[in-house]
Amino acid sequence: MTDYQTGFGNHFATEAVAGALPVGRNAPQKPPFGLYTEQLSGTAFTAPRHENRRSWLYRLRPSAAHPAFIRYDGAKRFAPGTDKHPLAPNRLRWGPLEADADADWLDSLTTMLVAGDGPATQTGVAMHLYAASKDMTDRAFVSGDGELLILPERGGLTLLTELGRIDVKPGEIALIPRGVRFRVMLPDGNARGYVAENHGSPFRLPDLGPIGANGLANPRDFATPVAWFEDVEGEYELVQKFLGSLWTTELGRSPLDVVAWHGNYAPWKYDLARFNTIGTVSFDHPDPSIFTVLTSPSEVPGTANVDFVIFPPRWMVAEDTFRPPWFHRNVMSECMGLITGAYDAKAEGFRPGALSLHNQMSGHGPDVATWQAASAADLKPHRIDGTMAFMIESRWVFHPTAFALETGALDEDYDQAWDGFPKAQVPLR
Ligand SMILES: [Fe+2]
Repeated sequence: MTDYQTGFGNHFATEAVAGALPVGRNAPQKPPFGLYTEQLSGTAFTAPRHENRRSWLYRLRPSAAHPAFIRYDGAKRFAPGTDKHPLAPNRLRWGPLEADADADWLDSLTTMLVAGDGPATQTGVAMHLYAASKDMTDRAFVSGDGELLILPERGGLTLLTELGRIDVKPGEIALIPRGVRFRVMLPDGNARGYVAENHGSPFRLPDLGPIGANGLANPRDFATPVAWFEDVEGEYELVQKFLGSLWTTELGRSPLDVVAWHGNYAPWKYDLARFNTIGTVSFDHPDPSIFTVLTSPSEVPGTANVDFVIFPPRWMVAEDTFRPPWFHRNVMSECMGLITGAYDAKAEGFRPGALSLHNQMSGHGPDVATWQAASAADLKPHRIDGTMAFMIESRWVFHPTAFALETGALDEDYDQAWDGFPKAQVPLR
């Protein structure tokens, strides 16, 4: 059983051992029990106060104590760089990946799409899939490249992090901040899901404008773990992702040794069922930005580096309206996944665990079956149930990896989703 502290971006204070957290100062000359003090900064020191994120950690040994990193040669499908050929403006879709019988969470990570210039310029986002069947034991992972938004689709995960322990299951999401070390256990024996690695500014809750002070994801529903640590000596590997490559070093101890911490830079989890969904009560429907859970702003106001958007269970009540997502072309690039159920813009072919890509200005929308059904539907109030699709939307175009373009999971017939629309009958002039 894990204990959590609630709130988004709160300044938390927590200790796994009574008396471990210094009081009244961040870096006392002699921290309690001889613990080592470390500041972990998630924003520049001088970031405005309302955006500033940092935590103070009190640990068994300094995280600086380790030998040089060498290249890591496991996880061959993780962070391999993108395909170097010119990118076709095609709409793409992939079926779920099969689990590797002998891979833990880290080694199962498979990079599918990368948008933006990446970690070197702190822009963009990468989409990874995982399908794991083994616990991570005696090793931890850390991304120096971005924060990790983890979306389980099948099987729960126990995330043992420097700042505490998070149990997360399908329908919930978890976030590991950039630079936080962690390992992943599989309480259900295997697990499958998605990871969005945000290389840009940290995710925050979107502004609500005329919606008012409440709604969408409410801050109190975010759960950050209390301090937890493991005191493990012996062989212990640390794998670090840095500038799109993987590196490894041997620590001789667990890096998950933070006995106490305080601050607002910390992992969390969130139950998507808590999302307060808002929509039309008259006609048409708002742009899907009304379903934004989290946003990572870019330097252009209102034009996100990445938005995380969900399509949750909800009532559809619009009158005289084509209710599913309409046909559209978008300057933003859209990557979608499905946690459970069916997505209301596609009759078939988009299963849980699947991934789709509609890059900048690619025409997309409902398939013929969905268009026909929605055009003829009797528009009574109707509840869409048992579904949870999500979108990772970016101002940057997504580039597939070579694996994504070669895998048998790629749907060669995706364009047929928009085949066979009857021509509109316009009277001759
Ligand atoms: Fe779209």
